[in-house]
Amino acid sequence: MSLYGKYVLPKIMNSVMKSPDLSEIRAKLVPEATGNVLEVGIGSGLNLPFYEGNVKIVGVDPSVELQVYAREVAEHSGVDVDFLSQSCEEIPSEDNYFDSVVITWTLCSIPDPVQALQEIRRVLKPSGKMIFAEHGLSPDVNVAKWQSRINPIWKVIGGGCNLNRKIDELIVQAGFRFDALTEGYIPGPKFATYNFRGIARPT
Ligand SMILES: C[S@@+](CC[C@H](N)C(=O)[O-])C[C@H]1O[C@@H](n2cnc3c(N)ncnc32)[C@H](O)[C@@H]1O
Repeated sequence: MSLYGKYVLPKIMNSVMKSPDLSEIRAKLVPEATGNVLEVGIGSGLNLPFYEGNVKIVGVDPSVELQVYAREVAEHSGVDVDFLSQSCEEIPSEDNYFDSVVITWTLCSIPDPVQALQEIRRVLKPSGKMIFAEHGLSPDVNVAKWQSRINPIWKVIGGGCNLNRKIDELIVQAGFRFDALTEGYIPGPKFATYNFRGIARPT
């Protein structure tokens, strides 16, 4: 891994992802999680203060650098978290184990998002829910054009983040249906702020 990826990017990521606009979305969505929870791409643990009730969380993320922040947040939030330092494409869990999956602003960076979503579906109970908030491809042709133009350099700066994924289509392709789906821009540059958020369930 480059020095940028190891020392600079985790600091930038932790700071950028603390934005009040994102926190507002976290505050609305994360309390929907119940029971045994898998958080995919737990990053620096910024969702942890928003869990409610008696949840038991498994947090999977390959970034050991971000995990340092996440462990600190977990300690302060008093939530029960087991950390797995690995990619989510192969989750060491039996089928139909988790009641809820939480995934926020992570599908953009996973190399094979459909494989990851299928793996999430495997470990999620048939009655379970996937709570998601992700940025992706804008429906505005001009914005979408810029997203695809900028994407190659953005991926390098953003640790593999893609601007132009069709998040809703990927979720459906992996075998989910939407219980709730809200789409739209949040404040910030349009190329990076078209968001998809809601709850999906296995079909
Ligand atoms: C933009 S950060 C979001 C972090 C956190 N979910 C949040 O809402 O603040 C993207 C996260 O995806 C993680 N990630 C990238 N590839 C992954 C993979 N294959 N499996 C699981 N997490 C991954 C990164 O390490 C990073 O923590």
